[in-house]
Amino acid sequence: MTIKILAIETSCDETAAAIVTDDKKILSNIVWSQTEHEAYGGVVPEIAARAHMEHIELVLKRALNEADISLSEIDAVAATTGPGLIGGVIVGTMTAKAIASVQQKPFIAVNHLEGHALTVRLTHDVPFPYLLLLVSGGHCQFLIVSGVGKYQKLGGTLDDALGEAFDKTAKMLGLGYPGGAAVENLAKNGNPLAYNFPLPLSGRAGCDFSFSGLKTAVRLKTEEIKNVQNAELSDEQKADICASFQYTATKSVLERTQYAVNRFKTQYPQGRHFVLAGGVAANQYIRNQLISTLIQHDMELVAPPIKLCTDNAAMIAWAGIERFNLGLTDSLDAEPRARWPLTELSLQ
Ligand code: KG4
Ligand code: ZN
Repeated sequence: MTIKILAIETSCDETAAAIVTDDKKILSNIVWSQTEHEAYGGVVPEIAARAHMEHIELVLKRALNEADISLSEIDAVAATTGPGLIGGVIVGTMTAKAIASVQQKPFIAVNHLEGHALTVRLTHDVPFPYLLLLVSGGHCQFLIVSGVGKYQKLGGTLDDALGEAFDKTAKMLGLGYPGGAAVENLAKNGNPLAYNFPLPLSGRAGCDFSFSGLKTAVRLKTEEIKNVQNAELSDEQKADICASFQYTATKSVLERTQYAVNRFKTQYPQGRHFVLAGGVAANQYIRNQLISTLIQHDMELVAPPIKLCTDNAAMIAWAGIERFNLGLTDSLDAEPRARWPLTELSLQ
């Protein structure tokens, strides 16, 4: 008999609910992206929490309608219980617990990062172990995934996440929030060598990242151009900034990838899969560049479809299924957590 899991994701600015089966069918995957934050150029936690409260019921109803099932037909309820903006995490966690309690079904507390880390197994046949690059608006790290709940962090960002750097570049150029996709689009018309931005952590070995210096270089160049011409940037100049920023950020990702692959191969010489996850995995330029680098190491890039790379609840449902299959359910006392590193999961 197939298992159906209902999942709720509310850790940032997406109010999402999905129903997924253990035979890898996404029966519904509803994502309500909050637009309330656009005017602020970033997510405002209090506004996000209130917006989750407002939208969660409708999003849940739509998820059930689209899957054409009732709550009583669900086998377990999962929710992102962290890490994330705590107000939103509380809304999703409490809603899922209430449903689990009323329906007398198991509750599964899912780490948002584990959702990103395992989604690829919903859409592709990727065995453990694999090397994961998780790049989103809030996270930027290399992990060796050797099983459900088994994560070894090889390195992470010392300051800004990659998606954050994309978003800040977009903000400086007036491209709206979140701006990753807008930067990538504009970069297609720009010259990646127009501006020579400094390569982050140049000459430094290891799997860590740093993007705040690059962000500052983009800001200074933007201001300089404005001052010199005493006018806003032209579309061509904006495109050149986007292309040069993306070129340098990607170059850094590729350099860090070489170190991460070497460490992964030392531990797992037969390991072949490199998984790209998180919102930035939607970036086609980064994907293409990574594919070329990985071929040299006899590794294959695998990434979930774009719709499952950005925050959604199907990824939380899938992580819930992987846990459920191992008998890993949680009590209704499981606490919402603002901070929750993957390496703190219980199965290490
Ligand atoms: O995983 P996600 O939806 O939310 C977080 O957990 O952060 O990732 C959102 C991030 C944002 O920073 C967004 O600008 C970035 O992913 N992003 C992109 C692209 N699409 C989304 N960054 C670069 N290129 C893209 N095409
Ligand atoms: Zn995310």
